[in-house]
Order: sequence, then structure tokens, then C-alpha cells
Amino acid sequence: MAESTRRPLISANWKMNLNHLEALKVVQELSYLVSKDDVDEVDITIHPPFTDLRTVQTALESDKIPFYLGAQNVHEAESGAFTGEVSAPMLSKLNVRYVIVGHSERRQIFGETDAVINKKVKAVVKNEMRPILCVGETQEQRDSGEAESVVTQQLQACLKGLKEDQLEHLTLAYEPIWAIGTGNTASADDAQEMCALVRSVVASEFSSEVADVTRIQYGGSVKPTNAAELLNKPDIDGALVGGASLEAQSFAQIVQFRLHDFEAL
Ligand code: PGA
Repeated sequence: MAESTRRPLISANWKMNLNHLEALKVVQELSYLVSKDDVDEVDITIHPPFTDLRTVQTALESDKIPFYLGAQNVHEAESGAFTGEVSAPMLSKLNVRYVIVGHSERRQIFGETDAVINKKVKAVVKNEMRPILCVGETQEQRDSGEAESVVTQQLQACLKGLKEDQLEHLTLAYEPIWAIGTGNTASADDAQEMCALVRSVVASEFSSEVADVTRIQYGGSVKPTNAAELLNKPDIDGALVGGASLEAQSFAQIVQFRLHDFEAL
């Protein structure tokens, strides 16, 4: 477990935005805005659409830009007759390091179940990449007091059958669905409470040693103005950022959350 620490992990989930030329521009801008001091403190992952991966990979490697390459999804099989899908070995060949799995848009729009997501997590781990597994409740579930039980069940089902040593590079992302793309961020206290719950589930399903080193991100309308408050909470070890990651300036300000005290302005 030695290498896996809880350095903040700040991830840019671009969703279905930015073609490969636009992607290149944003990555280059970001590389000027983010300093060496920033990357000494924070791990940064960029998750572009599949069509941009090779371009972003080449830019990161040729210019030695210290961001990790990420993907937004993966198919659970290694290869085969799955028209339109992309496998974990294909991503790994492009030096993809982190793969988002089980994002709520995959669950809600594309009908991904916990059972499928569980297979995807295993495919990512088997191919020596690092899953960012997303969990989170809907507004309805929160209103009816089910947030904790929904998130607990998602974690139990999506992590089923994994061995402790396969969790070494696991990141979990708590993303309340009502906060995604809506501008309604969870309060820092609510986000902390749910991230602490996520950690306690990992402790009870595996061990407190694993729970202590597992990074837990918060996602859902993270912006430069709320990043510091969220990231200063003890169980929030990073952010999964959608909308605010599409522009280099705002994503860089989130990465530099320690420097920007917007509350004080
Ligand atoms: P958002 O998206 O930052 O635009 O709310 C977050 C996510 O879906 O990961």
C-alpha cells in the first residue's frame, strides 16, 4: 500500500466536449497555468473523449507535461464483437492511467448496472490502470433519507469480489446526482459526511488500512469558488470536475485551491 497516499487528485471530466484540436489547446494552456509547485502537491488527471486520447497522450509525453491521462469509460471485455466500444487493453496501450467507471450519466442514460460496473472496475485493475469509481444518490433518494443506504449498496456491489491488494490504486468519487451540472454543490459539511461514509464502507468491506489510503473525491458543480472549502475537509481527497474543467483558467484555479481564498474576496 506504500505508494498510494491521499495526495489530492483533481480530475477533469470533459464528457462529450472538446474535439482533439480544442483538447490540445486546453492542455497546453493548462500546462502554462499550472506550476511545478502545484504538481508537487496535487495529482492531475485529464479525461477527454476517446477521439482525443491519442492527441492528448502525445502532447503530455512530448512536452513532458506532468498530468495523467484518463478515460471516461471502458468496456468490460478485453476484445470482441462489441460495436462502438473500447477495451481496457486499448486504453492501457495509450498510457491511460485513470479510468472513470460508473459515472451517473453512464448509469442513468446508458443503463449501466452495478454488476456491469463491477466488471469494468475489474477490467481496469487487471490492465494495471486505476479506477475512479463513482457513486451517488438522486435528489429523490436524498429527500427520502436513503442517501447513505444507496451509496453503501452501490459500493458493496461495485467492489464485490475485489481483493485488498487490487484496491491499492482505487479512487472513489462521491457524486450526488442532484449536484452534477446543476450549479447546486453539496454543502462542504454534507459532502464531508458522505465521503466519511464512503470511507467507513471501505473499512467494513475490506479493512481500515485500505480505507485510510483510499482517495475519495467529491464531484458535482465544483468551481474555483467552492473548491477550497470542499477540499479542506478531512475525508475529501480530491475533486471530479465537469463543467469547470473545460476552460484551462477555471480548472487551474481549482488545482490551485490552496492559493485561492475566494471567500475572502
Ligand atoms: P459538474 O460535473 O462539475 O459539471 O457538475 C461533475 C461530473 O459529472 O463529474
